[in-house]
Amino acid sequence: MAAAKITVIAALAFIACLHHALADPSPLQDYCVADYNLFVNGYACKNPDDVTADDFFLSGFETPGSTNNYLGSNITLVNVLRIPGLNTLGVAMSRIDFAPRGLNPPHYHPRSSEILHVVEGTLYAGFISSNTRNGNLLFAKKLQKGDVIVFPQGLIHFQFNYGESSAVAKASFNSQNPGLVTTANALFGSNPAIDAEVLAKAFQLDKETVEWLQSKNWVDNSGEDYIGALHQTM
Ligand SMILES: *[C@@H]1O[C@H](CO)[C@@H](O)[C@H](O)[C@H]1NC(C)=O
Repeated sequence: MAAAKITVIAALAFIACLHHALADPSPLQDYCVADYNLFVNGYACKNPDDVTADDFFLSGFETPGSTNNYLGSNITLVNVLRIPGLNTLGVAMSRIDFAPRGLNPPHYHPRSSEILHVVEGTLYAGFISSNTRNGNLLFAKKLQKGDVIVFPQGLIHFQFNYGESSAVAKASFNSQNPGLVTTANALFGSNPAIDAEVLAKAFQLDKETVEWLQSKNWVDNSGEDYIGALHQTM
C-alpha cells in the first residue's frame, strides 16, 4: 500500500517535471493560426473558418542559404513568423548551411533547448555551462554526418565546420519562437553602443580594442529578420 502511494507520488512528481520542461505553454485548442495583425503574448488566433492547409505549410527548406558572408554560415529559420500554424504549438526548426571553415558563432536561445542533426559534412559543436563551482564547463564534440547533439535552453553554444567541404545541419526547438542572442553581436554591435569602458573591463581589453570591435559590421546570420511569413509570397 505504502509502496503504491510512493509510486503515485513519484509519477505525479515526474509529470510535474515534464510540465516544467515545456518551454512554451500548452495550446488551449487544436490550433491557433497566427493573425499577424494582433500581437498579444504570441499571436491571436485567426478565425478558424479561414484556416487552410497553407497555414501549416512551407516549402523551399532544401534550398541552402547563402554562406557568402565573413562567418561562412547562414540560418534558415522556420518559426511562427514563417508558418503561422506554429502559433501556440511550442515547436520550430532551422536549417544551417556552412561553407568550409564556416562558423555559427557563439549564441543562445532565451526560450528554447535545441536538438541538432548533422545532415551533411562535419561540425565541431558544443555548449558551455552557466557559472558553477567548477567554472564554465565546455561540452563539445567533433560530429560527422548522422550525428545528433543537444544544446540546453539558454546556454551559449556554437557550430564550426572543420571540414574542407560544405556542411548542413537541421535543428529543432521546443518553442515557436526560440529567439537568438549572438553574443559578439549583442555585446559589440548593440544599438546604441555600450560604453567602451564597460566592455574593456569585462573582456580585459583596452578601450581602443573595444572601440575597434564596436566599429565592425556584425553580420546577423540568424534569419530573424523576416517580417511576416514566406508562405504568403508562394
Ligand atoms: C542567407 O541566405 C539568404 C538566402 O540565400 C540570403 O538572402 C541572406 O542574405 C543570407 N544571409 C547572410 C547573413 O548571408
